[in-house]
Amino acid sequence: MRLGVNIDHIATVREARKTFEPDPVKGAIIARDAGADQITFHLREDRRHIQDRDVEKLRVVITEIPLNMEMAATEEMKSIAIRIKPDRVTLVPEKREEITTEGGLDVVSMKDYLKNFIKELKENGINVATFIDPDKQQIDASLEVGADAVEIHTGEYANAKTEEERKKELMRIRESARYGKEIGLKIFAGHGLTYTNVQPVAAIEEIEELNIGHSIIANSIFLGLDEAVRKMKKLIMEARKEEYL
Ligand code: PXP
Repeated sequence: MRLGVNIDHIATVREARKTFEPDPVKGAIIARDAGADQITFHLREDRRHIQDRDVEKLRVVITEIPLNMEMAATEEMKSIAIRIKPDRVTLVPEKREEITTEGGLDVVSMKDYLKNFIKELKENGINVATFIDPDKQQIDASLEVGADAVEIHTGEYANAKTEEERKKELMRIRESARYGKEIGLKIFAGHGLTYTNVQPVAAIEEIEELNIGHSIIANSIFLGLDEAVRKMKKLIMEARKEEYL
């Protein structure tokens, strides 16, 4: 089980003042050294947190572990990805007015467009994942358009108001993970995961990677980023009953 640390919200704090600190690239180095297995960032169309210059710097500095670029499936983002060459692109839906990525990408309705889009990224040596709701049709469509992996959106699980709802959402995630792996996709998950809700998701064997941002960065205010990353990794490894190294 790998932990991808999403560093966007370090840049959110910086952009609140349009200044130079805190630096998300410095955050990426600290997260890497604390045991992150991947650095994830989302270059949004409105550049509300990560800026183009951060992306350039990240590619130079982060070489030992993979760099995962979350982006909308637009021509602008595709050309940036092909130039920067992250190890992976995760295709996400994007609406300007949303606070965060609400819901998964509707791969089913974009099949023809995504087929060509993904083909071009893969021809440039970039692995591609689609960020989707835990839904069989979206998983089938992701395989059809040539994705290497799906990242299952865990937002509904994280936001569940009752225990019953939470269990139902966890079951959807588990069944989707099983199905996706069976048909040959790699399975990742993320969104809204925290120290208190991560373990049931981390225990799902078919999931090989979690991408977690807001909660780690929020807790880093009190714990420091190094400790905030280590604590998440420890909880994930405990849930997998893997030895924590
Ligand atoms: N995975 C994807 C594809 C995302 O878009 C996000 C949010 O940017 C995350 C994971 C991380 O979500 P959170 O910040 O809620 O941990």
